[in-house]
Formats: sequence, structure tokens, C-alpha cells
Amino acid sequence: MIKIDHLSTSYTTIDGPVHVINDVDFEIYDNEIFGIAGESGCGKTTLLKALYDILDFPLVVDSGKLILSGEKNGQAFSFETGQIRNTWWNHISYVPQAAQSVLNPIVPVKKQFLDSIPKANITKEPKAITMKRISNYLEELSLSPDLLNAYPFQLSGGMRQRVIIALATFMSPNVVLADEPTTALDVVVQRGILMMLMSLQKQLKNTMVIVSHDMGVHYQITDRMGIMYSGSMVELGKTEDIFEKPIHPYTRMLVGALPRVGDKSQKTGIPGRPPALTNPPPGCRFAPRCPKTAEECKKSVPKFREVEKGRFAACHLLNRGECRCQKNYSK
Ligand SMILES: Nc1ncnc2c1ncn2[C@@H]1O[C@H](COP(=O)(O)OP(=O)(O)OP(=O)(O)O)[C@@H](O)[C@H]1O
Ligand SMILES: [Mg+2]
Repeated sequence: MIKIDHLSTSYTTIDGPVHVINDVDFEIYDNEIFGIAGESGCGKTTLLKALYDILDFPLVVDSGKLILSGEKNGQAFSFETGQIRNTWWNHISYVPQAAQSVLNPIVPVKKQFLDSIPKANITKEPKAITMKRISNYLEELSLSPDLLNAYPFQLSGGMRQRVIIALATFMSPNVVLADEPTTALDVVVQRGILMMLMSLQKQLKNTMVIVSHDMGVHYQITDRMGIMYSGSMVELGKTEDIFEKPIHPYTRMLVGALPRVGDKSQKTGIPGRPPALTNPPPGCRFAPRCPKTAEECKKSVPKFREVEKGRFAACHLLNRGECRCQKNYSK
């Protein structure tokens, strides 16, 4: 469905390019919820922007490309980087980070719906019919059609997020990208939003890409997930495998920091901070924080490779046979 083919991007700054996505190469399938996790500043939003084809200056593609392909209403489609933006809303839509603040507070929700839907899709029918369709769709999502007459400033953050998700999914796009959809919401509202995303995916049978720094969110709703560190994908696989037998030391630390029911052990964070992308260390970028660093980690960048079917990681430990998938892993 989405092929990310050796993609590298950078931001152009007065001090030179800041390389944020480095040779990222993987696929996102039809009919799955794919998660992207990693610490703040590792490039999750940048990757999502690239997926949505928001590749406008200062963000530029250095190499590689993206291909969005599939089938909608019996018609096959395939779009590459630069073409994907022509199919926004129809085949792909985007719920940006801090989406609650993207609605204009002083414009009623219904006008924002009508202004957002591509004109080509609504000019063919009378406005009253479009409004009826929007209102029915909100009801399908268990949202009151009265919301259409409200102004965003009258709605809670959670309700604004629901409205944005409704807007993003109204045209049944094949792919929905959601950047931190539950951040800044309390846990009860978070759960409601996650349930909404899950049931929409089941109903549309489409692809959802969920970015979150919260591993708990990935555990609850994603089928497969990728872990990013300092602009690179360091591990990817089925979510249950990532949690049950993480390979990369960074993933092990992320998973190990999660509280579990009945586990009374002291939880520790990951020491240190990710490197500045303006001046990353040579070799593996996680090496300065890794408890298993060896000489080669400081010199060469580990290759992102398939460790077992559908399971990828980029770590020199794999060469040393110290991966948790293999029997001789020692903690
Ligand atoms: N316009 C820009 N110019 C230069 N650097 C930028 C620009 N936008 C983002 N960056 C840098 O790109 C890196 C990745 O940012 P990005 O927003 O993709 O991270 P993120 O993983 O989404 O973080 P968060 O979890 O905080 O949302 C950061 O180091 C950031 O400073
Ligand atoms: Mg972000």
C-alpha cells in the first residue's frame, strides 16, 4: 500500500542541511494499523509529512521515494512522491500533531467540513444533500449532528479531535495518517479516541498510520510498528513481537520502561538524550547511550535488515549473535 523506498530527507537551514530521515525503507500494508514510535525529535512527524507528500521547502527529499498504491471503488491507483498531494482526502488524509488547534475557532464546524472536502466531490450534488451526508456520517460515529452548528471554541479538546478524525475519514480514504492523536488528552478521552480510530479502521478496512511517543498507545491499537531513533528506523515488526521480544537495545529500554500490572520492580528511564541531528555521532547513533556498545558500533552504521520473516532491526548485536531472537542472547 505505501512503499517507503530508501527515503532520505533534510531540512534546509542557514547552517546547512539537517538530515532528519535517513535511508528509511519499509512497507505499510493494506488493512492494518501501523504505529511509529520514538522519543521527541526523532523524526516521526517529518516521516508522516513525507508520507503525506508535504515536502515543501525547507523540507526536501535527498534521495528515495514513496509509492502509494491500492484500489478504491474497483479502480486501481498508484501515486508517487509529488503526486500524492493530488489525492489528499480521496486516497490519503492527515490528522496533524496538535490537531485540536487546526480548526478555525470562529468558523462553524459545518463550514469547515464544506471548505475541506475537495470541491470536485461536492459540487455535483446540492449542498443540502452534502450536509445530510455529513450529518449521517457523524451519527454513524456516535457524534451528535448538532456539532455541525457549533464553533470549535465551544468544544472540548477531545471533541475537537473527534471532529477532525471525522473530517479526515469522511471520504473513506485508503490511508489515514494520525500524528499523536491522543496527546494532551486525559486517559478517558484518550481511550475514546483510540476506540474511535480502531472501529473506523475495521469499518473502512483501510490503513491507519498512528504516530505516538506513548508505547501504551501502540500496545493497545497497532498491528505492526516501527521504532525510530535519531531520524532512522531501528526496529520494525508485529507489535506483539516488539513488546514480547524486542531486539534493538533502544526498543528493549522503551519496552522495559513501561509499567506492567503486578510488576513491582523499579522502572528507570533511558539515560542520556538523543544526539543533536545537526551533529550526530559516527556509527550507530544510539551507541553513546547503549549498554551494549562495542567498538564497531562507534565506527559503522548498522544496516536495517530482516532478522526473521517480517522482523527488521538495525543493530551490530545481530552480527555478534546477541539478539533476543537467538538463543544465546544474554541479558
Ligand atoms: N523546519 C525545520 N527546520 C529545521 N529543523 C527542523 C524543522 N522542523 C523540524 N526540524 C527538526 O527535525 C527533527 C525531527 O522533528 P520532528 O518534528 O519530525 O520530530 P518528532 O519525532 O515528531 O518529535 P515530537 O515527538 O516532539 O513531535 C527535530 O530535531 C527538529 O528540530
Ligand atoms: Mg511530532
